[in-house]
Amino acid sequence: MTLIEIQNVREKLLADLDAISGAPELEAFKLAHLTRKGTIAAMFDELRSVSKEEKPQAGKELNTLRQSVEARFKEREEELGATGGHEEHGRLDLTMPARPVSVSTPGHEHPLMKTLNEMIAIFERMGFAVENGPEIEDDEHNFGKLNFPPDHPARDMQDTFFVKPTPDWTPTSKDQPLLLRTHTSPVQIRLMERQRPPIRAIMPGRVYRNEAASARSAVAFFQLEGLVVDKGVSMADLKGVLLSFARQFFGSDAKIRLRPSFFPFTEPSAEVDVSCYICGGKGCRVCKNSGWLEILGSGMVHPNVLSACGIDPEIYTGYAFGLGIDRTAMMRYGVSDIRDFFENDYRFLEQF
Ligand code: DAH
Repeated sequence: MTLIEIQNVREKLLADLDAISGAPELEAFKLAHLTRKGTIAAMFDELRSVSKEEKPQAGKELNTLRQSVEARFKEREEELGATGGHEEHGRLDLTMPARPVSVSTPGHEHPLMKTLNEMIAIFERMGFAVENGPEIEDDEHNFGKLNFPPDHPARDMQDTFFVKPTPDWTPTSKDQPLLLRTHTSPVQIRLMERQRPPIRAIMPGRVYRNEAASARSAVAFFQLEGLVVDKGVSMADLKGVLLSFARQFFGSDAKIRLRPSFFPFTEPSAEVDVSCYICGGKGCRVCKNSGWLEILGSGMVHPNVLSACGIDPEIYTGYAFGLGIDRTAMMRYGVSDIRDFFENDYRFLEQF
């Protein structure tokens, strides 16, 4: 390998580079000549066999060869728009339109609202009206008229967020404590106060609990309340409506079961489970091998509650139920952390 040979190779590579007309060719050039297995590296290897006297000169010439080829390569890369990675900022085109946010289906329903809207549609088909009530409630509606005894633990500071109408407000003995409703049941009271039976309504809405947030419980979540008051309403009606709801919402072979329970505002009270929609009742991870999933609380409206709203319990009877929308949506979609619903992470929301 003589000096002349090295110079010839340099001239040839520079000429080749100048002749290149596209990014793929340029990439091929790089592979052939500029990588560790390329021609130039091979020539450096050959230096070993050059005589001691010629070595310094040949080394210098080789360095010149490498530097000039690399410099020209960079120029060509920029001309052909073939740069990648760290050099990209040099070619930023600020006039280009922005890339759209990467959502495959922009503007669709939130999974919670989707669940809620499906539930509303099912109950509307069964003749239920949709009613609403305030999220800031007084003690009387959230607890008192729902037959909570004055010392009931649910009134405890731990569960309830109390609200001050103004920062310097101090409650006097005749003021009622104000609070963020802890359930949708107070809407039952407001409805019975303003409407005479027959009543047949659902009351969806947001509720608040002063609890530590976890995978299973959030500080704010959604419930759907149901209330039917009329002459001759029985527990059988409640069971029929809930079974029909379960079949429409979870699938035609869904089953329900009622377990005795306690709520101050119903007597008798029952918790309702639906057969696990994943395993169909055989037992799996979601239902913790029980085959059943708890979906709601329910019961016959307590006579004290009817009386508190001016409805004669000797003439009218009613049933009520309260269903957790978030929990039901979690079951339905296999979501394991309730907080996912509120974090607005596209990667989560896009899946629905
Ligand atoms: N309000 C109850 C809760 O938040 C749920 C509930 C249970 C509502 C039984 C009802 C009912 O209407 O009858 O835990």
